Amino acid sequence: MIGFLTKLFTRPDAALSDAQPRDAGAIAALHGASFRRGWSDQEVEGLLTDRNVIAQRALVGRTFAGFIMSRLAADEAEILSVAVARNQQGRGLARQLLELHLRRLAGLGVRTVFLEVDEHNAPAIRLYSRSGFREVSRRENYYPQPGGQTAAALVLRRDIG
Ligand SMILES: CC(C)(COP(=O)(O)OP(=O)(O)OC[C@H]1O[C@@H](n2cnc3c(N)ncnc32)[C@H](O)[C@@H]1OP(=O)(O)O)[C@@H](O)C(=O)NCCC(=O)NCCS
Repeated sequence: MIGFLTKLFTRPDAALSDAQPRDAGAIAALHGASFRRGWSDQEVEGLLTDRNVIAQRALVGRTFAGFIMSRLAADEAEILSVAVARNQQGRGLARQLLELHLRRLAGLGVRTVFLEVDEHNAPAIRLYSRSGFREVSRRENYYPQPGGQTAAALVLRRDIG
């Protein structure tokens, strides 16, 4: 009985895998729900079919729960986006996606990974700093905020090669 109840209330593990062009709609929807500037399905499909872009996704059961995407240029990569569905956040999915992503990037010969993050985005900053990313520069007035204010972008870097 306890086993049955545990199964009923425990969320299934996430399955992580490479994203496919058919994931474009789900990625665009999650990106749109997560960021001020959305991506259209076509933009995402264009990225997913670009040979210099790699992306992984997380499924929980049949639900699309998260993704991460980077663009490669020689031995560097820039993380373009990472997002986890609101009802799946806080259970380590982004950390798992990031670890898998960095392994894939390293396997492709990438040695340095960069990204930009809003200075006020505490969950993302914690995610990246726990993974070994360090701030290398700061772009003031980069992200528009509600009420006409702006936030700085922190440029983070991690060497993986
Ligand atoms: C950032 C984001 C991807 C994290 O996803 P997640 O699956 O909830 O992250 P995890 O559960 O793997 O947690 C990663 C770290 O963030 C911390 N964290 C998660 N939610 C947090 C919150 N609301 N406040 C502070 N820290 C938080 C976790 O404690 C964990 O740190 P720890 O390992 O030191 O405990 C998610 O919040 C999201 O999709 N945000 C919207 C999109 C976004 O901002 N993307 C990043 C753009 S650069």
